[in-house]
Amino acid sequence: MENREEILNSLKEKLSTVDNLNDLNDIKVEYLGKKGSITALSSMIATLPVEEKKIFGAELNKLKNEATELIDTKRFELENKILNEKLANEKIDISLSGTKVPMGAPNILEHLIEEVEETFMSMGYDVVDGPEIEEDKYNFELLNIPKGHPARDAQDTFYIEDETVLLRSQTSPVQARTMLAAGGDKPIRMICPGKTYRRDADDATHSHQFMQIEGLLIDKNISLSDLKGTFDTIAKKLFGEDCVTRFRPSYYQFTEPSVETDISCFACKGKGCSLCKNTGWITVSGAGMVHPNVLRNCGYDPNVWSGFAFGFGAERLAMLKYGINDIRAFYQTDLRESVGFDRKEV
Ligand code: DAH
Repeated sequence: MENREEILNSLKEKLSTVDNLNDLNDIKVEYLGKKGSITALSSMIATLPVEEKKIFGAELNKLKNEATELIDTKRFELENKILNEKLANEKIDISLSGTKVPMGAPNILEHLIEEVEETFMSMGYDVVDGPEIEEDKYNFELLNIPKGHPARDAQDTFYIEDETVLLRSQTSPVQARTMLAAGGDKPIRMICPGKTYRRDADDATHSHQFMQIEGLLIDKNISLSDLKGTFDTIAKKLFGEDCVTRFRPSYYQFTEPSVETDISCFACKGKGCSLCKNTGWITVSGAGMVHPNVLRNCGYDPNVWSGFAFGFGAERLAMLKYGINDIRAFYQTDLRESVGFDRKEV
């Protein structure tokens, strides 16, 4: 069969340009179909002498197989190409980032207050509330700060009615309310976290609204050392076991003696750094023994009862603990303008 190579070469040439299954099928028909050029060769068998028939038949079979294999290989190639194109078109782009849902978290101030509450509750204290719109009587007078007393100047606040109803400038009025409600014959252990107000211009360390955590303990035979032990416990809980505390003499109208309570600086461990202004100590609250006048004003006999009180600035505690350098950060709701966070949690 002389033109075998010729047929295969022309088939190969056609296959090299075909790019779809329809054309491929046409090529198959052209060579192997009923009237195909290879099929046509079979009709020649009849014209051949007997001895050549066998050889020709064998060669024709070989040619058919080779042609079929070439076409099948091409089909496989084309089918693969089509499948890959289909897969590429239908691909889902999973690299596109999803919609971010911002996670909420408790306000850091609230978090700190809860920690303080839990510590005091574990020592048997109640957590109580008092009104933010307060009477002058509770905010000042019962606390031994009569009208016209210069101590009022430091706590100038917002007045609602004349000079009798105001936004409380401290949580200390809740001391008076709690003692009066207890009736003068029961021991008291309470803390009162809450909002307070002053006519201060807002800056990094002042806010016209801030939070205090008031504390009051009334019982028999209470001394300054009870206050020291209580303060020591809470300081260690909040600032770590190696925290050391000290008292400095101070003056408040509702306590006698009065103290400022300091903790050893947790940033430098008392060596001196910028946080503690090189003193090694940080002041965290005012405190003292409840003044006999206050006990008397609130129905407790100072000859029988004694007690201590303290007042923490809640934001100040949180600023120290979490390295926040601007009190306004607690009340900002626009996160794009957040200020005041530059130190990690201790
Ligand atoms: N109320 C005081 C203030 O706002 C803080 C304070 C000091 C509260 C001493 C107390 C205390 O209970 O005993 O400055």
